Amino acid sequence: METAEQIKTEILRLTREYSALVHRANRPGDDPSRTTPFIPGESTVPYAGRVFDGDEVAAAVNSALDFWLTLGAEGEAFEKEFARRLGVKSSLLVNSGSSANLLAIAVLTSPSLGERRLAPGNEVITVAAGFPTTVAPILQHGLVPVFIDNDPITLNARVEQLEAAFVPGKTKAVMMAHALGNPFDLATVTEFCRRHQLWLIEDNCDALGSRYDGQLTGSFGDLSTQSFYPPHHLTLGEGGAVNVVRQAPLRKLAESFRDWGRDCWCASGKDDTCHKRFGWKLGELPEGYDHKYIYSHLGYNLKPLDIQAAIGRQQLNKLPAFIEARQRNWQILRRELADLEEFFDFMLPTHATSWTPDGFEWNDSGHRTECSWFGFMMLVKPDAPFTRKEFGALLDEAKIGSRVMFGGNLVRQPAFTSLRKLQPGAFRVIGDLSGADRIMNEAIFVGVYPGLTESMMAHIVETMHSFCLQGQP
Ligand SMILES: Cc1ncc(COP(=O)(O)O)c(C=O)c1O
Repeated sequence: METAEQIKTEILRLTREYSALVHRANRPGDDPSRTTPFIPGESTVPYAGRVFDGDEVAAAVNSALDFWLTLGAEGEAFEKEFARRLGVKSSLLVNSGSSANLLAIAVLTSPSLGERRLAPGNEVITVAAGFPTTVAPILQHGLVPVFIDNDPITLNARVEQLEAAFVPGKTKAVMMAHALGNPFDLATVTEFCRRHQLWLIEDNCDALGSRYDGQLTGSFGDLSTQSFYPPHHLTLGEGGAVNVVRQAPLRKLAESFRDWGRDCWCASGKDDTCHKRFGWKLGELPEGYDHKYIYSHLGYNLKPLDIQAAIGRQQLNKLPAFIEARQRNWQILRRELADLEEFFDFMLPTHATSWTPDGFEWNDSGHRTECSWFGFMMLVKPDAPFTRKEFGALLDEAKIGSRVMFGGNLVRQPAFTSLRKLQPGAFRVIGDLSGADRIMNEAIFVGVYPGLTESMMAHIVETMHSFCLQGQP
C-alpha cells in the first residue's frame, strides 16, 4: 500500500512527463526541446501567450491536490517573493489587473486617510489613450478623470500638460500606465505629485521589469498595480496585484477593501489573530460584536485562488529570462525593420530621441529608461501608401497576431460618449488629445513575448517587407 506522499510524488512525476509531451508550443522560443514545426502563413504567430513548462503544471496540480483552494500559503509566499523582487514594502494578490486598479483607487477613498482621501468629485489626472480599466475605477468611485494627451511615439503622457490639468483643492491623484512596457516620465510626474501632495498610482500591468534610472517601475508611486493575465510578463491565468510601495498602513486598507471591507485582518482559515475578537467597540455596533464581521469599508471580494499563486511562484523564477527575451525580440524587430522607416514611426522609450543599431540616443534630461516591452508598436505614417487597417488585415492574413493600442483615445469610446451625454462633467479633457487620436488611428503592435521562435520572427519581418516594398494594394 503506497502512502499519500508516494502517490503524490508519482502524480507529479507523471504530470511533468505529460506536460513535456503536450505543452511544447508553450515553451520559450529558444527552447531546443520545442519541436512543433512552424509553417509560415499557416501556423499562427501569437502576439502573446502563456510560456511555461512542467514546473508550473506540477505546481498547479500539487496545489490542487492540497485542495486548500482559496488564498493560503502559496499566496502569502508569492506576495512576499514578488514584493522583494519589485523592491516594494508589500504586494497584495487580487484576481485581475483590473481588480488591482479598482482596489488601488478604493484604498485611497478610505476615511482613515483624512484630508488626503479621495472624496466624490475629486479629480484624478490620467492619460487619454490606453486600457479602459486604468480609468474606469476613477469614475466607479465618483471621482473625475482628467485626461491629458499621449505622446504618439512614446505612448506615454505629455507631461507638459500636467500643470494645466491641476486644480488646487480638487486634484488629488495621478494614475497612469507605463505604456506597453515604456516607463512614463517618472522624474517629472513624481516631482509634480510631491509638489502638489498628490497620490501617485502607477499602472504597471504592462511593464513588469521595466526600469527608470535603474529602478524598477512600480516602485515609484504610492501604489502600483500588476496584471497576470496570459499576455503579460508573467501569468497566473487570471490575476493581479496591488503593490504598496512605502507606506505600510496602506496594506491593511487594501486587505480590507479586497476582503469584503472587513476590519478584521485574519487570513482565511484563521481566527482571533488580534486576541480580542469579541473585545471591539466600533461604529454603533454593540460592545464585543464579532470582529470578523465588522466592516470599516464598503469592500469587494477580489481574491484569487492559491493554485494561481503556486503557478505564479514558478513563473517568477523565469521572469529574468522572460524580460531578456522580450528585450531581445524587440531589438531584432527594430533592427530588421529599420529600412521601413518611410512607412512607419517606430515607438521610442521615454527620453530617447532615436534608435541606432548601437543603441538609443537620449535627450539631455539626464534620465534613462529600460523597457521590458509588452509589444512592438509602430504607427503607420499618414502618407504611407497603405492604411493601418490594410496593414492589420495583411498581418491577419499572414496569421501574425497584432493589436491596436487597446481602447485608443478612450473619450471616443461609446462608454465615454454616452457618459458625456448623460452626465456632463463626469470627466474633463485637456487640449485636443491629438496624440491620443494619432495612436487610435495609426498605432498597431505585434508581439515580442518569449514564446516567439526565430522562424516566427523571420516570418513577421519577411511579411512586412514584402508588403511594404512590393505589394501594397
Ligand atoms: C495597462 C493595463 N492596465 C490594466 C489591465 C487589466 O488587466 P487584466 O486584464 O488582468 O484585468 C491591462 C490589461 O491588459 C492593461 O494593459
